[in-house]
Amino acid sequence: MPKRDFLAIPDFSAADLHDLLDLAGRMKSGAYRERPLTGKTLAMIFAKSSTRTRVSFEVGALQLGGHALFLSSRDIQLGRGEPIRDTARVLSRMVDGIMIRTFAHADVEELARFATVPVINGLTDLLHPCQILADLLTTIEAFGTLQGKTVAWIGDGNNMCNSWINAAGSLGFELRMACPEGYEPDRDIFKRNAALTKVMMTEDPDEAAAGAHVVTTDVWASMGQEAEAAQRAQAFQGYLVNEALMKRADPAAIFLHCLPAHRGEEVTEAVLEGPQSRVWDEAENRLHVQKALMAMLMG
Ligand code: CP
Ligand code: NVA
Repeated sequence: MPKRDFLAIPDFSAADLHDLLDLAGRMKSGAYRERPLTGKTLAMIFAKSSTRTRVSFEVGALQLGGHALFLSSRDIQLGRGEPIRDTARVLSRMVDGIMIRTFAHADVEELARFATVPVINGLTDLLHPCQILADLLTTIEAFGTLQGKTVAWIGDGNNMCNSWINAAGSLGFELRMACPEGYEPDRDIFKRNAALTKVMMTEDPDEAAAGAHVVTTDVWASMGQEAEAAQRAQAFQGYLVNEALMKRADPAAIFLHCLPAHRGEEVTEAVLEGPQSRVWDEAENRLHVQKALMAMLMG
């Protein structure tokens, strides 16, 4: 069997995504007791900071009988200029899977091209598909299904937003995005998925949130954009998720945020800590979906 990678949501069919989410649910419930990673190692390359991604993969690998190696790109030879294609081939001779968090998405594609073991995208400037798996599981837990649900994205058209667009296209739910001019999501990803499902862009958060079942946002300056933070804070005035915006949504709506959150910038303390917030379940669900993903790719 050829190896499979998970660099983007569309790398999996809708059936694969549903299987993964079902498996994650069984793992969470305690019904799943197998250890498909016994004797196996996941190498985790991090060129950016992480709490949830690192801990979920590391703990998840252990719980499935395997092991995960934390490789900061500052400490391995990659950070001193060893080519990504060489790193891919060397690691492939020793480990059973590679997870990478870095800047350029093309670097992850190159790693996957040269690796002979599965490669998992743990976040790039373009996409964050592992987080979206957790967000989908959290949404299903709240509503029982994604069918007929509407997701409202408020804020930056960033890696999270791009991955939500991919998920909407792959699974056929409605997505409405409110982004300021100049901070829209990736044009190609938008176009591709607009042909598959209802995706709508606006500059008005109220319009995006109206009647939505999920309201979600993310920081205004992602990792690597620290120098633009002040300029972005200006551009995103009016894109705060507060209680008034949540009132526009469906009465049963949930609030999601991949975390870390900046209270008082993109979301108020009241919403983040309020009754509609599912952010702690969402963070926990990283563990369950990452385990399901490793079991499917490396098991
Ligand atoms: N949401 C997320 O990916 O968190 P970390 O940056 O802590 O991994
Ligand atoms: N958009 C954020 C997500 C962090 C998990 C970033 O890329 O920094």
